[in-house]
Order: sequence, then structure tokens, then C-alpha cells
Amino acid sequence: MLRTHTCGELRKSNQSQEATLCGWVDSYRDHGGTIFIDLRDRYGKTQVVFGPESGVELLDQGRTLRSEDVIRVTGIVTDRPEGTINPKLGTGEIELRSTALEILNKCENAPFVPTQQDLPGEDLRLRHRYLDLRRSVMQDTLVQRSRIIKGMRDYFEDNDFVDIETPILGRSTPEGARDYLVPSRVHTGSFFALPQSPQLYKQILMMSGYDRYVQVARCFRDEDLRADRQPEFTQLDMEMSFVEMDDIINMIDGLVAKLAKDLLGLDIPLPLPRMTYDEAMERFGHDAPDLRYGMELIDCTDLAAQAEFRVFRGVADSGGRVRGFNAKGAADKYSRKDIDQLTEYVVQDFKAKGLAWFKVDADGKLASPIAKNFSEELLGQFADRLDAEPGDFLVLSADQWDVTCGVLNGLRRRLAAELKLYDPKAMNFSWVVEFPMFDYDDEEKRWVAMHHPFTAPRPRDIEVLESDPSKARALAYDLVINGSEAGGGTIRIHDNAIQSKVFGLLGMDETTAQERFGFLLDALRLGAPPHGGIALGIDRFVMLFAGLENIRDCIAFPKTQRAADLMTGAPSTVDGKQLRELGLRVGQAAEK
Ligand code: AMO
Ligand code: AMP
Repeated sequence: MLRTHTCGELRKSNQSQEATLCGWVDSYRDHGGTIFIDLRDRYGKTQVVFGPESGVELLDQGRTLRSEDVIRVTGIVTDRPEGTINPKLGTGEIELRSTALEILNKCENAPFVPTQQDLPGEDLRLRHRYLDLRRSVMQDTLVQRSRIIKGMRDYFEDNDFVDIETPILGRSTPEGARDYLVPSRVHTGSFFALPQSPQLYKQILMMSGYDRYVQVARCFRDEDLRADRQPEFTQLDMEMSFVEMDDIINMIDGLVAKLAKDLLGLDIPLPLPRMTYDEAMERFGHDAPDLRYGMELIDCTDLAAQAEFRVFRGVADSGGRVRGFNAKGAADKYSRKDIDQLTEYVVQDFKAKGLAWFKVDADGKLASPIAKNFSEELLGQFADRLDAEPGDFLVLSADQWDVTCGVLNGLRRRLAAELKLYDPKAMNFSWVVEFPMFDYDDEEKRWVAMHHPFTAPRPRDIEVLESDPSKARALAYDLVINGSEAGGGTIRIHDNAIQSKVFGLLGMDETTAQERFGFLLDALRLGAPPHGGIALGIDRFVMLFAGLENIRDCIAFPKTQRAADLMTGAPSTVDGKQLRELGLRVGQAAEK
């Protein structure tokens, strides 16, 4: 090694020893003839001193140092003089009085430095990711990520899971998100697809007798990106045979408790709370509810049906819903202008037609421009239903059920953040179970799988699969952390006939099903055990454990919102020879 110690290692006990450190110049201060630098590596910082005793030559060399130069410096570990001790630094009681300096690499004209207070825009950070990754928060996050993954691997190994790799080059299955395709040179005109998840391989592994499988798996989905999504992300993927839903949930409960304890020092009581999808949508309007605060949704459709108010009455009479919640004590926090902004937010983002609201005055009466459309008595009933007390702020949405879900979930999250209703450091874990089997796709006019087409229905719902697909509930479960979906899984169909039936319901005729999933249907006839599993989004886990808002901050080399790697310039065009070998020609649109 070029160094004897790291920059976070030296202590008072090393007093008078000679030490050699390597690292980046974090800061430089010239105090009239004595130069102080903080030398940094990922372990910490050490103060290095070039003083008169270093000699003119060394002092002059020291004077050339600038931020982010990489140096190797040898010196004597010395106690810091009284009054200059820095209790914030592990190495704050000592300094290294230099005797030799070697500049390993100069840093010239850096577009930004990792120590600067105001960070540059994310594009510049991503373009020069090596500078950005030197920031201590980034380094802490990536260390945390490494620990989380190790904690996961250890846990599954302790529980007899076998780590098995599955292919990256696979078959395109257009169900789900859009595939990333890889052209085959050998089979001109044919394509591999990068896996959206190892789903089918892990099921096949169950049929192959590996009853406990685990993998840290890279997944690829060409979908529209959001703050918590990446086109290339990592799952902790697992699958078990001879299990029921409770077995998978209990196994993950144990993992969550261990990680929370080991990484955050939190004691999480088990079992983690569970609620059904139907309950989550009714109480919170979302399938990954944030349970760090209240403001549960309350149904007022029956009251709305009695109102003069055209908006409420019309919705109640046409099978819609009128629901709302009470932001306790928030009346004076929202001016008319603020409420206009809230209204604009729900109209623009959640297809609302408006927002009804009341403030509760000192006498407990509901006040609002729309109050005149209600009788005193009915207003009193609304007040009782919403548990209104003086100073409360009530919001109501009248619309089709799904619109009220979106509007009220959006408002609940926004108000909770604005009113600071939760401790940003708090961690809340829960399960949402029994999702619908299917969603109706209005554009394609057909049912689509809510999770994926290999999900088993609750046994009692097999009968309604065909007669009323909307009613069928799946043996599906999502792990929710602080209002984000951190993982999702299901018990799988292990019966060929039911699998074929589900493919049929999804609009796949037998020939197509056989062509796409023949291998699965065959295996389901050749000794398939009951099985199920789950995948946890590791990037989201890290993001939530580290309290980050942006998934890109917990991935070393993420893609931008526009799915590009700004550092390497990927994706890029390729030369004509490569295309010819693949039998491909690029059209106009792609060439732009
Ligand atoms: P699912 O599609 O729900 O399930 O994915 C599991 C978890 O992976 C994370 N995740 C993502 N993270 C970052 N960027 C993305 N684009 C992204 N998409 C998903 C989420 C999610 O909960 N094969 C099934 C699992 C199973 O049934 O066992 C699957 O992939 O945290
Ligand atoms: P309008 O009669 O359309 O001007 O609406 C009167 C009030 O009701 C306004 O404050 C609107 O924001 C509100 N409003 C309109 N439509 C809805 C709706 N679907 N749900 C809740 N409030 C609404």
C-alpha cells in the first residue's frame, strides 16, 4: 500500500509515530507561513500541516496544492495545540506534521468540487459522476447500500436459500413494461430481451426442486421514469416452494426487522401490520398508504345525496363517491390563495373537477363559499361525520371512486408534508395484501394482470374469475415503507388449467400462450410444486433507509429522467459495420 493509515484512522495514541496518508485535498488554508490542508478519503479527514520546520522546499510544494489534488504525504503524528482540537472529527485531536509530499495527480479546472456548499445541477453531477461520488453523503449512501445487500444475503443464506443466477439475455414477453431488446447477430432478425425480472426463471427453479431461491438481480424496464424509478434497477428476488402467503410475509418480516435493527438501531415489532387492498383504497385512497400520519378518508356520499349542492348531488346520484378528510387544526394555515393552488394541483394532476372545502369556525360551524348550498342541519352532519372541531380544515372530493382515490391520496401526502405531520426520520413498515387479480385497460379494452399473469387467485375467487374478473382478488402482497411500494410478490399458479384460463382472460389465445409461455405451461404439467415469492426493490430500500428523495442518489451510475448515462454518453449511435452484422438499418426517427 502507498499509505500506512487511512485519513480517518489516526488518534492521540499514534502520537509521535511516522505515518503516510493518501487522499484528496479537501481544503487549503494559508496562515502566513503555515499551510493547513484537510486530507480526505472515504474514511474521514486528517489535518496536515506544512510549517516552517518542514523546510522551504516542502513549504513551497505545499503552497501549490489545490482542492481535489490527490497526494501522498508523510509526516509525524502530533497532538494539536490546546484550543485547536476539532471534536467533530474522529482525527480532531491530532494533526500530521509533514516531512514529505508527493503529488500523485493534480486536479485542474474542476467543473465543481464535492465540498462546495451549493451543489450544481444534477446533469453536471451525473456528467462528472466521479466528482459527485466523492461527496461524503454519496459515499455514506453507497456504503449503506452495500451493508443492506450484505444483510439481505446473510439473512437468506442463514435461512437455507440458494443464490442462483438467471440469464440476462432472455425472451421478450410483451406483458408488463416495454422490453429493452438486444439484436442477435447469429439469428438475424431475432432479438433477446433484457429481463424485466427473473420471474419465470425463478418459478422454473421451483419446478426444478430448488425450494428456496434468492438472487440480487438486475432488472430492465423501458418505462416512463419517475423519482422512484430507474430503467435499470436491482431487486432482491426470492422464491419458495410449498408455501402460503403467510410464509413469504413472515420471512420478509424477519428480514425487515433485522435490517431495521442492524442498520438503523430500530426495534420493529412483528408481525408487521397488514391490510387488504380494498381497505387501503377505502381508508387512504392508495395501495401503498403512508401510515406515518392520520387524515384517513371518510365517506360522505350518503350525506352528499341529500344536499342542494349540484356537484355533490349529481355525483352521488350517478354512482360516484363523495369522500374527504380532516386536516386537524390546519384552517389558518391555508389562505384562499393556498386553497386555489391546492385546487389547481388536484385538477391538473388527478383529473379532479374541483375541490370542495370547509374551515371550521370558532363556533364549530362549517364555513366555505359552498356552505350556502347546504342546510344548517346537513352541515352539522358533515361536521359530525368528519369529526370537525374549531380550527379544522376539511377537504372533499366528489367524483368517480378512482378519481376520489387519486385526489385525496395526493392531497393527503401534500398536506402531511406541508403541515409537517411526520418525523422525516420515522420508518413505517406495513403490508397491503389481496390485490385485485385484474385491472381493466380502457385503451386496449381488455383485462390486464394487476401484478403479473402468473399470480394465483384466492381459492374462493376461482369461480368468479370468468363471471366477474373485477371481483377476483389475488394472493398478492406488497411491502410498503413510508408510503412507497418497496416490494411486491404473489403466490403463483401451479396448475396448468388455471394458468391457461388466466392467459385466456388476459386476451391471449391458446396459440399465442403456447408460443410465448409454452415452456411454463409444459413445466406446470410435469411436477410443479405450489410456490410463491417476492422481489424487494433494493434501490428503493436504500432510498427509504437513507431518507433520500431521489432514487438516483442511491445508485452509483444512474440514468437520467430521459434514460441516458450522461457520463459515458450511453445510449449512443453505432457504426454501420455493427449494424450490418446485425442485419439492422436505423430509421429516420432513431437517427435524430
Ligand atoms: P414488481 O414489478 O412489483 O414485481 O417489482 C418488485 C419491486 O421492484 C421495485 N421496482 C423498481 N425499482 C426501481 N425502478 C423501477 N423501474 C422499478 N420497478 C419495480 C419496486 C417493486 O416493489 N417479479 C415480480 C416479483 C414477484 O412477484 O416475485 C416483480 O418484479 O420496489
Ligand atoms: P362550480 O359550481 O363548478 O363552480 O363549483 C363550486 C365549488 O365546488 C368550487 O369550489 C369547486 O372547486 C368545487 N367542486 C367542483 N367540482 C367538484 C368535485 N367534483 N369535487 C369537489 N368539489 C368540487
